Amino acid sequence: MNFLKIRLLAWRIYQFFIFWWFSKSKWRIHSPFVYELVTKVFPHIPSINGQEIEKVRKEYLTNHQLIEIHDFGAGFNNQKKKIIYKTISQITKSSARKQKEGELIYRIIKHLKPQKFLELGTNLGFSAAYIASALKEIHNHNYQFISLEGSESLHQYSKLLTQNFNLEVELINIPFDDYLSELNKTFDGIFIDGNHTYEATIRYFHKLKNHVNDGGFIIFDDIYWNHSMKKAWNEIAKDGYVTLSLDLYDFGIVFIKKNQAKEHFKIWY
Ligand SMILES: C[S@@+](CC[C@H](N)C(=O)[O-])C[C@H]1O[C@@H](n2cnc3c(N)ncnc32)[C@H](O)[C@@H]1O
Repeated sequence: MNFLKIRLLAWRIYQFFIFWWFSKSKWRIHSPFVYELVTKVFPHIPSINGQEIEKVRKEYLTNHQLIEIHDFGAGFNNQKKKIIYKTISQITKSSARKQKEGELIYRIIKHLKPQKFLELGTNLGFSAAYIASALKEIHNHNYQFISLEGSESLHQYSKLLTQNFNLEVELINIPFDDYLSELNKTFDGIFIDGNHTYEATIRYFHKLKNHVNDGGFIIFDDIYWNHSMKKAWNEIAKDGYVTLSLDLYDFGIVFIKKNQAKEHFKIWY
């Protein structure tokens, strides 16, 4: 482990301590909406769908097929496309949503019932499978779910997972900025899980906040990933469009609802 990695790790431990110190337990939350989320939705409950999706993860973890990936990670700037090679097993370990977080998103969606949903960052399709399972259970076929992935090979691979479970997802192979520049739709829920830089996160937020229906929400992954993600999250939580922001450490969720007083919670659940 080099010096920069050790410094980042130390920063994350310090941030976690600050988060934990200032976070509220359910006993100190007076908003009924947030209290219900904290008591009924956030606590971990394994789901039947989760068990099925996790069987695929086990398979992928032993899959050593090498694939060529256009790297759209932090630092990507539309001009340079770096090519990297990784096995399915390596991608599953490093980038795919873990079961606990996948099931949390699944429960959030089942509780909030968005009908039109957008995901930025399909990768192998693990979060997409959790999201689509929840949408299918609530709305049957009467929902729209779009998931974007820049890397062609990952986009192709993600079809296997969603087809395996008969899930309806519109998987689109496109850089996020290209899709957002042409966007003419609105959504009830959005999950932003790619390009963890300050500039990109702020850019996506300012574009997407105008495409969230009243009462809708945006989930940001990894808001304590690094200093720049935390800076982006702090700015987003303060934005005039945001009425309620929930800092769950792993995720940040903002709600956009007209005529509502502004509130912010750090929640340890
Ligand atoms: C952390 S992974 C997503 C994980 C996935 N949501 C899950 O939970 O299983 C982020 C993905 O976003 C894609 N990505 C990152 N920046 C992008 C960009 N600017 N345009 C398109 N795709 C991008 C990456 O290729 C990567 O597959």
